[in-house]
Amino acid sequence: MPLKKTQPPSDDKRWKLINAAMRRHGYHRSALIEVLHAVQDAFGFLEDEALEYVADNLTLPPSMVYGVATFYHFFTLKPKGEHACVICTGTACYIKGAGDIIDEIQDKFGVGPGETSQDGKFSLLTARCVGACSLAPAVVYDGEVAGHQTPEDVIKTIQEWFGNDT
Ligand code: FES
Repeated sequence: MPLKKTQPPSDDKRWKLINAAMRRHGYHRSALIEVLHAVQDAFGFLEDEALEYVADNLTLPPSMVYGVATFYHFFTLKPKGEHACVICTGTACYIKGAGDIIDEIQDKFGVGPGETSQDGKFSLLTARCVGACSLAPAVVYDGEVAGHQTPEDVIKTIQEWFGNDT
């Protein structure tokens, strides 16, 4: 069985979930859609570096991977906001209050999952499991996983983004 061929783009532990998904499918090209689902479940969206990594490992042309990612409405490409806040809504995180966090963001900033604030400062996304269940509820701020988040923590971080960027 082929081993993974390229190194993950970073040491983010979530790449292990993607590697496991590719390994499960024997790195077959036909697993592309399922692997992209795994990326989106873990990261909340499909970033260019993730598409390139998957293309390399499944030995597919990047243009084809990008084409599939843009064709299907259930895939979300890199969000438009300057910052990205990804709320994990997997079972462990949901039980520990992920829904309250989303409600609070919606109340405070009028931004729902999949949306970007009007001024383009941040995008709100959801993921199915970011691989940090023991830290539930987990939130990923610009690629950094943070555990045991309360609605207050999340609001504070988003407000800091507003403060730092204006
Ligand atoms: S369910 Fe949220 S990190 Fe696994």
